[in-house]
Amino acid sequence: MTRPIHVHLLPALFEPADLRGGVAVVIDVLRATSTIVHALAAGAQAVIPCGEIEEARRIASQAPAGTVLLGGERKGLRIPGFDLGNSPDEYTSHVVARKKIVMTTTNGTRALLRAREARRVLIGALSNESAVVEQLAAETGPVHLVCAGTDGKITLEDTLCGGGIAHWLDLAAADAFPADDATRLAMILFDSCGRDYDRVHEERVLATLRQSLGGKNLIECGLGADIVTCAEQDKFAVVPELFVHDWEIRAAR
Ligand code: MLT
Repeated sequence: MTRPIHVHLLPALFEPADLRGGVAVVIDVLRATSTIVHALAAGAQAVIPCGEIEEARRIASQAPAGTVLLGGERKGLRIPGFDLGNSPDEYTSHVVARKKIVMTTTNGTRALLRAREARRVLIGALSNESAVVEQLAAETGPVHLVCAGTDGKITLEDTLCGGGIAHWLDLAAADAFPADDATRLAMILFDSCGRDYDRVHEERVLATLRQSLGGKNLIECGLGADIVTCAEQDKFAVVPELFVHDWEIRAAR
């Protein structure tokens, strides 16, 4: 069976049912999916994604004391009363090990909600890109790379990551192919950063993230350091997966 690779530049550009039977990868490089990868790599037990702040507070209030932390942002900043913001470097093993993180962010957690009808929902970022490609290459059926975007706008950083995953999967799986021009566009953006994972590539990726909409928002918030962390390629081998039946994100099997 052939495997069309779709890069969806925004969650609004597909219907949830379009993903049925396929494997979805939700991408929010700045910063939600980068943070989820860092949290699981630091030993967090699970991440529970929520669309709204009140929902997150309610879920956290129902959990046994000391077992959960509230994490997330609005307008890039930590939500009042939450334990953590959305900076990957806050999610250290000292803070999150064996805890469940109840998380809500502006774009990333909402993109997860929209991808829930896929057969599997994986979480991708630059920090686990090769591990995601490995999981996808071992799978079957269509692939849906879902870019979260920023406030309903297409962003360079998610498109670049989607283009990179599509590029390497296209090489790794003989039956995989770019399904449409949005996917080819993302792959052309990836190519523009230079294909080899060398210094030139890293510098171009960092420059692309800094000039992106998400990057400019972070710099304005004084969170420019997060761009460097989120630009680090293949820092972790963990591939988080949203298990829809109990609505928790844990490491994929
Ligand atoms: C989001 O999910 O909207 C982003 O991660 C925003 C952010 O991190 O500031």
